[in-house]
Amino acid sequence: MYGSGRIISALLVFVGLVTFPIWYNAGKAQQPPVLQMPAAEHPECVRDVLYMRTSHMVLLNEWRDDILRKSGPRFGVTTGGVRYERSLQKGCMSCHRDKQNFCAQCHVYTAVDPNCWDCHLEPTSEEALLSWTNEEVILNEEVILK
Ligand code: HEC
Ligand code: HEC
Ligand code: HEC
Repeated sequence: MYGSGRIISALLVFVGLVTFPIWYNAGKAQQPPVLQMPAAEHPECVRDVLYMRTSHMVLLNEWRDDILRKSGPRFGVTTGGVRYERSLQKGCMSCHRDKQNFCAQCHVYTAVDPNCWDCHLEPTSEEALLSWTNEEVILNEEVILK
């Protein structure tokens, strides 16, 4: 058993050093994102969570290009059979209504600032609420018609 005490203290120092940046920064580092998930009536996303976490921006571009350039379908179906609109404001945001405590949580943390909201309406606006029940995609006219 000779030396086991030393080995353990060496291990402790090692673990301490390796994790030093973590606990040293705890308290002053920026808080990791805390996400406000959709209400229970929306139990699943349009793709699996891992794909969404890493690739939602790719999916949004695919939807946009497919719909606007190739007249692709405006609707899709989740694996669980829920119909959704392939739309930023009428699709994503109809489930993820708390933009500030969902999208923005990650985006502020990773310093991403998508310009989509120059034209697309935030879920908090009355027009966006109307948009979800309307055939047309209502956009921010001040920007579009400028
Ligand atoms: C039908 C409702 C619905 C729609 C439409 C929808 N989501 Fe989701 N989304 C969810 C739910 C519910 C979860 C959590 C799923 C889970 O944890 O199994 C989720 C998870 C996510 C996540 C992963 C969050 C995490 O845990 O890290 C991201 C990112 C995301 N959605 C972005 C989007 C984007 C962008 C769109 C549009 C392209 C979209 N979602 C459309 C309901 C929806
Ligand atoms: C789990 C964290 C997370 C959540 C939740 C999340 N995003 Fe993102 N989003 C990211 C990251 C990280 C990037 C940057 C990826 C990169 O730079 O390659 C990004 C990039 C984007 C981009 C591309 C921005 C650009 O300028 O290229 C769009 C659009 C976008 N997100 C939309 C959304 C929308 C809409 C929601 C809410 C429905 C959302 N995201 C929720 C992490 C998230
Ligand atoms: C300069 C204004 C403008 C900006 C900025 C903009 N869009 Fe759009 N977007 C439009 C217009 C106009 C349409 C067409 C609306 C229609 O007829 O369906 C559209 C349609 C779309 C569609 C397909 C239809 C729908 O209802 O969503 C997607 C998806 C989309 N945009 C995603 C994005 C994303 C993601 C961003 C940010 C990275 C973005 N847009 C930024 C103007 C804009």
